[in-house]
Amino acid sequence: MRAVDLIRRKREGGRLEPPEIRWLVQGLLSGEVPDYQWTALLMAVLWRGMDAEETEALTASMMRSGEVVDLSMIPGRKIDKHSTGGVGDKTSLILAPIAAACGVPVPMVSGRGLGHTGGTLDKLESIPGFRIDLDLAGYRRVLADCGVVLIGQTSEIAPADKRLYALRDATATVESIPLITASILSKKLAEGIDGLVLDVKTGDGAFMERLDDARALAESMCRIGRGLGKEIVALITRMDQPLGRAVGNAVEVAECVRVLRGEGPDDLRDLSIALASEMLVLGGVAASREEARELCFRSISNGLALDRFRRVIEAQGGDPRVVDDLTLLPVPTLLRDVPSPRKGVVTAARARPIGRAAMLLGAGRARAEDGIDHAVGVLLHKKVGDRVAEGEPLCTVLANAEGPALDRALAEIASAFEVGDGPVVVPDLIVDRL
Ligand code: URA
Repeated sequence: MRAVDLIRRKREGGRLEPPEIRWLVQGLLSGEVPDYQWTALLMAVLWRGMDAEETEALTASMMRSGEVVDLSMIPGRKIDKHSTGGVGDKTSLILAPIAAACGVPVPMVSGRGLGHTGGTLDKLESIPGFRIDLDLAGYRRVLADCGVVLIGQTSEIAPADKRLYALRDATATVESIPLITASILSKKLAEGIDGLVLDVKTGDGAFMERLDDARALAESMCRIGRGLGKEIVALITRMDQPLGRAVGNAVEVAECVRVLRGEGPDDLRDLSIALASEMLVLGGVAASREEARELCFRSISNGLALDRFRRVIEAQGGDPRVVDDLTLLPVPTLLRDVPSPRKGVVTAARARPIGRAAMLLGAGRARAEDGIDHAVGVLLHKKVGDRVAEGEPLCTVLANAEGPALDRALAEIASAFEVGDGPVVVPDLIVDRL
């Protein structure tokens, strides 16, 4: 087999056979197919696409490029959730302890934030001492002890994805549905799960801004995941404004704790419960989504979900007292209110500029190697549909330094909000379920 022939065939719109795709992925790791040939192939795939059989073969080969974790020694159906990412998207820290408290083991391997979107690992690391870099033995142990484990991608899990994602990032070949499908599913299916709930975001702050693209990605991931023998459910959800009211890292952890205490914003609570309910049904502990919802709410009201969060924090080296005392989380030194320019109704609180503002303040990273500041971010006091008086704060910017970055963040925030005469119809957060 010669890589150049396979690249040429794909370039001309032909298809690759599963053994050819397996050979290419093995060649990536062994060095037999060098990076320059893979980048040409990635560009050919971006233009020509892949059919379902090719995408499934790519996903399976990437999944098997490392260890496919065996969790059979842990009883119960293991279920995870993946979100395509957004601003203020922190449901993992709420639904994972809820599902675990309801009897569904949740082995969760998450990512870091990039650009205007946040990442679960960065939020977790704002908890003093919390370690996301467990090895596979630690991963299994914490899952067995707590029913939930929250780590970052290890070098053993889907190493081909790590290599390919870096190549795609540097060659403008990220935006391809078969490549995104294989990238996301190869990592998730290597975790040792039986089922997966997908939260595919659409709107201004989402990776897939257009609903049609989000639907196509959701359909592709459902088809390929099911083809590989996993139970998959996808919700398509709106990301036009931030989810909840906190954007950053420590502030988002605090908001999650409040939801687990039975407080917290309705939109964040409702989406977290909707996703957790799907996990309970896939996990076989509830017969219907209605029954699952009741179990989820009960785990909040009886304190068991919050207790799970406390336990997993402690098991992963973090300070469990944060759950009872939010002042132990990092705090910013500078608070700057952003007043409404007029009286009226908020008609827009766009997620993308608010996410960019948080990144500029230091809550996120422009490049994968950048460091972050866990204390900074944005706290929204008003969201779409809320009434506001002239001069009343729309949000508070949480910063640690004056200077050009804060000025640029404030300019982003100013472009994010619109206040009009109303009334405003706030559409349902969940657009579809596949
Ligand atoms: N997230 C991933 O993990 N992979 C992609 O290709 C895109 C988003």
